[in-house]
Amino acid sequence: MNQPAVVSILSLISNAINPFLLYSGSKEVVLTGDRPTGPLHLGHFVGSLQKRLQLQDSHPLLILIADTQVLNNDLSKSSSTLQNTLHLMRDYLRAGLSPQKCLFVRQSSIPQIFELANYLSNLTTLAQVMRNPTIKSESQMYNNSLNMGFLNYPISQTADILLFNSSLVPVGQDQVPILEFANDLAIKFNYHFKTNIFNPITPVLSTTAKLVGIDGKNKMSKSLNNSINLSDSMSEVKMKINKMYTDSNHLRLSDPGQVQGNTVFDFLDVFLEDKNQLQELKEHYTRGGLGDRYLKDLLYKQIEKILIPMQEKNYSDDYLLNVLNENSTQALKIAQHNIEIIKSFIFK
Ligand code: TRP
Repeated sequence: MNQPAVVSILSLISNAINPFLLYSGSKEVVLTGDRPTGPLHLGHFVGSLQKRLQLQDSHPLLILIADTQVLNNDLSKSSSTLQNTLHLMRDYLRAGLSPQKCLFVRQSSIPQIFELANYLSNLTTLAQVMRNPTIKSESQMYNNSLNMGFLNYPISQTADILLFNSSLVPVGQDQVPILEFANDLAIKFNYHFKTNIFNPITPVLSTTAKLVGIDGKNKMSKSLNNSINLSDSMSEVKMKINKMYTDSNHLRLSDPGQVQGNTVFDFLDVFLEDKNQLQELKEHYTRGGLGDRYLKDLLYKQIEKILIPMQEKNYSDDYLLNVLNENSTQALKIAQHNIEIIKSFIFK
């Protein structure tokens, strides 16, 4: 199938070989997204932000703020989406993501996502969506309050990805079945409409181990109230570290201590760069003679080194909204261009 004639909107896009345009030739566009439900925390920092910082230097990167997806879980959260969106933008920029390098897009600014989702919904079945492991486990969390938007979210997430010519999608492990579903839909579209417009979708998984929460039991998560947020004040951080469990049998300094299952060591594993020092500390703690206070102070210093430079960067709400609006306007032009190409394969 030949590429349809270039639509005039192309002239509105400054860079004529924009990688986000379908048929631009780029097979390496990265798209990832977050639901704006609250502040980012250290788990996000080690699990996804650091990866994005690398990717923004090597690939075209679109970061989607999935504000309409928030409604699929809990409609009452709509009243905090704007505030949470700004918080997310502030966390992104403070962490070093740059509007010069990546495109920040508000999902609700791009109606073509929902237009494409509607077309794609005809290529799957209710049974297929309901079988999806991510949908199964998430629907248990929201038990009786499932809305239709929730059941549609794998389809609209597929549209998020395909509309911007993306093929590489960094997500957490829990989202992998959604991307398998998305890839399946892309293949079905190409097959049914006899085209090669959509690239295969590949998940990009984080290589760092999941960060535990300050409770030491679960992974760090805002909803479990066990997180250290990137925007927490240093006194909050100190308080949270002080609350961490170490080894409950390590009562006196001279007692031998347990490294395994010790939350402070779980954190030092991630945040102490000097691995020789870490090994020596573990041996010393196991022998006895090393105090919890020393370890907690050391951990605090490592986290301080990350958070203070971030928190020194100040961005006003107006500035953040401006960046987001400008970026979203650019993305809208791309979406308008791409949806016309997609429709030309459907309506012939
Ligand atoms: N569902 C994703 C999450 O909750 C967020 C998301 C929305 C996303 N659209 C996306 C992730 C597109 C990757 C690609 O984490």
